[in-house]
Amino acid sequence: MSIAYDSRTQAFHLKNARVSYIFRLAGGKYPIHVYWGRRVRNITDELIERRTAWTDETFSLNEASLDYLPQECPTFAVDMREGMIHLVHENGTSALLPEYVSHEVVDGKPSLGELPGARGEGAQTLLLRLRDAVSGVVIELCYTVYEDVDVIARSARIVNGGKTPVTVEKALSACVDFDGSDMNLTTLNGAWARERHLYTRPLVPGHQGTASVRGASSVQTSPFMMLTGRDTTETAGDAFGFALCYSGNFEASVYVDQHAVARAQIGIHPFNFSWRLAPGEAFQTPEAYLAYSAGGIGGMSRQFHTLIHRHITTGKYARAARPILINNWEATYFNFDEAKLLDLARAAVRADIDLLVLDDGWFGHRDRDNSSLGDWVDDTRKLPDGLAGLSEKIHALGLKFGLWVEPEMVSPDSDLYRAHPDWCIHAPGYPRVEMRNQLVLDLSRAEVRDHVVGMITDALRRGHVDYVKWDMNRFITMWGSAALPAGRQKELGHRYILGVYDMMRRITQAFPDVLFESCAGGGGRFDLGMLCFMPQTWCSDDTDAWMRCKIQHATSLVFPPSAMGAHVSAVPNHQTGRSTPLSTRAAVAMSGTYGYELDLTKLPDEEIEAIRAFNAKVRAVQPLLLYGTYHRLRSAFEGNDAAWMSVSEDRREAVVTHVYGQAVPNTKDGLLRLTGLDPDLTYRDAQTGKTYGGDELMYYGLRLKAPWGDYMSQQWHLVAEA
Ligand code: GLA
Repeated sequence: MSIAYDSRTQAFHLKNARVSYIFRLAGGKYPIHVYWGRRVRNITDELIERRTAWTDETFSLNEASLDYLPQECPTFAVDMREGMIHLVHENGTSALLPEYVSHEVVDGKPSLGELPGARGEGAQTLLLRLRDAVSGVVIELCYTVYEDVDVIARSARIVNGGKTPVTVEKALSACVDFDGSDMNLTTLNGAWARERHLYTRPLVPGHQGTASVRGASSVQTSPFMMLTGRDTTETAGDAFGFALCYSGNFEASVYVDQHAVARAQIGIHPFNFSWRLAPGEAFQTPEAYLAYSAGGIGGMSRQFHTLIHRHITTGKYARAARPILINNWEATYFNFDEAKLLDLARAAVRADIDLLVLDDGWFGHRDRDNSSLGDWVDDTRKLPDGLAGLSEKIHALGLKFGLWVEPEMVSPDSDLYRAHPDWCIHAPGYPRVEMRNQLVLDLSRAEVRDHVVGMITDALRRGHVDYVKWDMNRFITMWGSAALPAGRQKELGHRYILGVYDMMRRITQAFPDVLFESCAGGGGRFDLGMLCFMPQTWCSDDTDAWMRCKIQHATSLVFPPSAMGAHVSAVPNHQTGRSTPLSTRAAVAMSGTYGYELDLTKLPDEEIEAIRAFNAKVRAVQPLLLYGTYHRLRSAFEGNDAAWMSVSEDRREAVVTHVYGQAVPNTKDGLLRLTGLDPDLTYRDAQTGKTYGGDELMYYGLRLKAPWGDYMSQQWHLVAEA
């Protein structure tokens, strides 16, 4: 891995053993993108000139050359395509022409301050300094290259080096101008209970992409996009992934220009955003990860998974086994008391489960979703001995104890709201629109954060909790903060997220032994920002096994199974009304952080026995399922079945899962070709004892049993013979 600068060509070449990222300075001043892809030794001047139609002798600003050159950091000057950074000077104009000043290569990766980001072990970082001579504004572009993962981390810092204030109106994190637009764009879109479905379409001229302006990355979309060659498949061809380490408003877009250059950008959404910088102040953008693979979409996903496992997730549980949990939400909803919870706990003990999570409704007087958020005090009607007493009883049964909280919210019917009606986000004079009967706390304010951190910390202490589910159940509307002046109201979205990160940092650091799972009305904030604090995220409120085949498939484009909360729930399923076999529900949930979400007390003994067997299996193969090399084999978006597998690093062990959709009569047994195995090894299926060659499994395939009944599944645990 290295970052090289060639002073003759003024080219920067970032590379590791597999990937190159190259850009040059046009006219000695403007960083121009040259290449990103499979590693090359060099790109000759001749080829660069053919791409850019420019040589050092012919480059001239007056020829509007920046309007057609591929740029690393386009600003509003001569380039009239969509830019990466836009700001307004005190005189109201907004031209900005940053020019190269200096660069520096450092080991590791500098901190992003209040923003979370990947760690920089074994990495090297290029800091490129550009300056606008008229205003004195400095833009520092930061590029990190890793030895062990084919990801370039990019971010930008805007420093007001001038004498008058400026207002930043757009500050994206990365821009890559691709040489040609003959590519497909994939984004993840959906809705509540239908998060992250896969949408792929060819690029067309103009603007396209995905975005959220809801104050969270959202159930509707994800801060990610992928560009692939027209012939790229799951296992072969170019795949370029863009993911943002951020949990608020974002935009991931491609602008295809007059010459079919595809400008791909990602960062904070410019809508309803601005940031005022006094002289000397700086604005740091979130970090974007640019993952490349020549080995298709699967190869790209594995780069993200490696990045997450080695450089993003942190703390005790980052690479550890996760407890098998039972969550009482779908078992009881709000209708529980201590006796019911203890019944559930005793059934959990019989079912060999590790941890009981007490979900929503344990505080204030919350009998349904219309009160008490903000009042994190025990409801002694339901829990006569409070959290402390319940937790003691659960622990005495040999179970760990987990707790649901929703720290960012306040119910209008709460002591907190009655005491501080101005602590919620609201636009003066407009209705305080309640979604799910709740309002969003103004976490841009330090006193609000301090209060919430104090209350939540107290609850976690008195409950002696081992696990926390941190929920966030509505998006932000009627934006406004009582604490910000008029000229700074558009800073609220980013300040809110910085406030969330501050609270998460303080609370997770205060409880280093606790496992944290983030959640947002299902999977409404499934992003890399959250994963920097909490190693797992609740994937979706939809626990239907067949829907989960889709949601988990698309989620795995970026996120590994270790990040995906997945539970076995009751049938008929509460979101779809569908009944799927218990074994299929378990097989699908096992490919995430495993748990249950149903009333165990109502299950017949044979199902409790089956659950014990699933748990034993999960314990035996969980390191492989969560942290192994993940391969998608079949997509439920494309047909009537789904399949995936996880392979150990040494390729001596694998777990393969196959799920059929609806049974179709009179069909022949199918074949499922595996991938990622060692062709020269012989594998034994731990369950049936049958042996297969690695080559046979990959080139011929596993024979699938024609299903008898809907949503049947098969699982193989393949272990190499000595
Ligand atoms: C959200 C979560 C659910 C549950 C409820 C509780 O919808 O996604 O899992 O915790 O809130 O109100």
